[in-house]
Amino acid sequence: MFSKDSIIGVIGSGAMGSGIAQVAAMAGHKVVLYDNNSAALEKAQASLKQTLAKLQEKGKVASADEVMGRFRFASELTAFADCGLIIEAIIENLDVKKKLFDIVEQAVSETCVLASNTSSLSITSIAAACKKPERVMGLHFFNPAPLMALVEVIPAVQSDAALIDDAMKLMKEWGKVPVLAKDTPGFIVNRVARPFYSEAIRIYEEGIADMATIDWAMTELGGFRMGPFTLMDYIGHDVNYVVTETVFQSFFYDPRYKPSFSQKRLLEAGWLGRKTGRGFYNYAEGMTMPEATKDTTLGNVIVERVVAMLINEAVEALHLRVASAKDLDLAMTKGVNYPKGLLAWADEWGAEKCLAILDGLYNDYHEDRYRASVLLRKKALAKDTLL
Ligand SMILES: NC(=O)c1ccc[n+]([C@@H]2O[C@H](COP(=O)([O-])OP(=O)(O)OC[C@H]3O[C@@H](n4cnc5c(N)ncnc54)[C@H](O)[C@@H]3O)[C@@H](O)[C@H]2O)c1
Repeated sequence: MFSKDSIIGVIGSGAMGSGIAQVAAMAGHKVVLYDNNSAALEKAQASLKQTLAKLQEKGKVASADEVMGRFRFASELTAFADCGLIIEAIIENLDVKKKLFDIVEQAVSETCVLASNTSSLSITSIAAACKKPERVMGLHFFNPAPLMALVEVIPAVQSDAALIDDAMKLMKEWGKVPVLAKDTPGFIVNRVARPFYSEAIRIYEEGIADMATIDWAMTELGGFRMGPFTLMDYIGHDVNYVVTETVFQSFFYDPRYKPSFSQKRLLEAGWLGRKTGRGFYNYAEGMTMPEATKDTTLGNVIVERVVAMLINEAVEALHLRVASAKDLDLAMTKGVNYPKGLLAWADEWGAEKCLAILDGLYNDYHEDRYRASVLLRKKALAKDTLL
């Protein structure tokens, strides 16, 4: 269905849209980049030019001019008339996206495929806004799109199955690692990763350890690239908290995904993280970062607790067929750079140890948040592996 001659349309020229447009153009496609804000479009054009020039200097692009020549920057939807695939990356708002899909469908050809890069909204619901919902799907890239290999490919309930196979092939041709994810809240990564943030905050709120110590434990002992508090400040609480809250609401208020007041208050205070100079940490000039208590025994307890919760989410996602075991592990290593796949981690620790940690937490707290996946319990009983 798709070929090198397919023209790719991208809607929204912000962080994600311009990154996705760059990936498509570098893969040899002609690209139409559209935004309803002309200043944003001009900014994207200038920054793409600069990025491609840098890539040429580094020898990663033969000719920046040639790649730039593949772009059309458009402020009218009529520019999409000859596109084979449109990828939408505008603000994360269901009503706005639905309205946009309705209008876009009137501007494209009968055979054009429509994809959304939404992080957490229902693809099925977006597809329902279209006259031909079978041509709609999710293509979820990670930030920054040119550097992160993962793309979650998400069929809507209505999607044509052949379309999904073609999209998987196209993403591979773009040099990406596509994984197939069910249209459920947060897809794979934004669902499975929730305890990395929420359990770390819980440990901090209970005074078991301070933020610096939790960050130290997760990086130095757990092998994660960034500690949870540093990472949340980096992502921004306006984004990270909102994803947590959306996932919680979308799961019909399952306590496993419950957001925290500590993070909500940061958002209310406007302490959004690095970008505002203050979040969990204070980044003002002259401020020194708090020191971690480098207590290995405490650190190992922290890592065990957070990783067991992450493993439980991955096992439950496997149990509910959100994705295959292979794709679940690929998603966490390629989408958020985890040191290893969570199911591989579970096998390394053994399902019995993971279950013992979770059951220990459940017995202490009597909170549903700590309920172990039935699949983990079965695997532990059978002394079986997850992969
Ligand atoms: N930033 C991330 O880390 C990330 C990662 C994966 C997915 N996403 C998803 O990608 C989408 C875009 O996120 P972003 O971070 O690039 O946002 P952004 O704010 O950087 O860019 C959004 C762009 O869309 C434009 N826009 C808004 N409404 C529009 C409309 N109706 N028509 C045309 N253009 C419109 C804006 O002018 C802006 O340039 C969201 O759905 C988000 O959830 C974001």
